[in-house]
Amino acid sequence: MTGVSIEVHLRPSDLAAQLRADARAGLTSRPKWLPPRWFYDSRGSALFEEITRLPEYYPTRAEREILAAQAEELARLTTPKTLIELGSGAAEKTRLLLDAFRAEGSLGAFVPVDVSTSALVEATGALADDYPGLHVRGMVADFTRHLDRLPASGPRVVAFLGGTIGNLLPGDRARFLADLRSVLAPGEWLLLGADLVKDPAVLIPAYDDAAGVTAEFNRNVLHVLNRELGADFDVDAFTHRARWDSEHEWIEMRLRAARPMTVRLSAIDTTVDFQDGEELWTETSAKFRREGLVAELAEAGFAVRRWWTDRRGWFSLSLAEAVLT
Ligand code: AVJ
Repeated sequence: MTGVSIEVHLRPSDLAAQLRADARAGLTSRPKWLPPRWFYDSRGSALFEEITRLPEYYPTRAEREILAAQAEELARLTTPKTLIELGSGAAEKTRLLLDAFRAEGSLGAFVPVDVSTSALVEATGALADDYPGLHVRGMVADFTRHLDRLPASGPRVVAFLGGTIGNLLPGDRARFLADLRSVLAPGEWLLLGADLVKDPAVLIPAYDDAAGVTAEFNRNVLHVLNRELGADFDVDAFTHRARWDSEHEWIEMRLRAARPMTVRLSAIDTTVDFQDGEELWTETSAKFRREGLVAELAEAGFAVRRWWTDRRGWFSLSLAEAVLT
């Protein structure tokens, strides 16, 4: 089968309900928090694309370097019939994989999975034109909830790239990896991109760039709340903060209230007070060490068969095989 199709497992009303629930829970907690997924409306996705081109933000280039160097070997080892990409977004690095998998000869379908219908429509249209004969089957879905809906035609490679695994807190990460393992058969594959622990002098600027793009990306979540929940955040009264937590080995992004504020969110009938200097926690981006990640994968039922990094050793790509435990 060839051509493009898009399956919707997540309706706009589900997303809206999820946002309301997250805002209600997060903004009434101490510290206040919001999940990072709400950064990515069309403006947020465009800002993220801009981040990936910043001189300070190395992960995208490092991962592309690894994929370019290893795609052929990957294809030889995995001979996939189906490539699934979780959180595909613009699916740009995917082309390196598609080229190698097509050349190897076994690939029949590409399944990008994303919560954004517009990102999927854009990515899939272009891919179908460029890879005639490939069935491009987009899924609008939440990869933490809809893994059981993934198409079954194997062997499959599930790619989870970009370091997005780092946005999950340790407990959620363990659950996600175990859930993913449970929908795969032994001998199927996880291809995981993960950012590595390194000097904070490199890490912090990657999340607090000189041009202020990351600051704008961080504040964008407040624009999303203003629009989607009828909120009245004074967005410019929040300053961007990025800090390295050396105990947990993660970067935290926060938004700090520059003065005391009362914010009304009319769609959830909620009023929230910020004290002067109070912070809203908007993202956790965990950084990994080889031993730790290999152990987490083993715990979930994955055996790491290949571990690759870029030349500087800043970013990792692991190829892990689903095994019986
Ligand atoms: C897309 C989640 C991997 O954590 O590095 C970039 C998002 N946040 N700059 C990351 C992000 C701030 C990014 N991920």
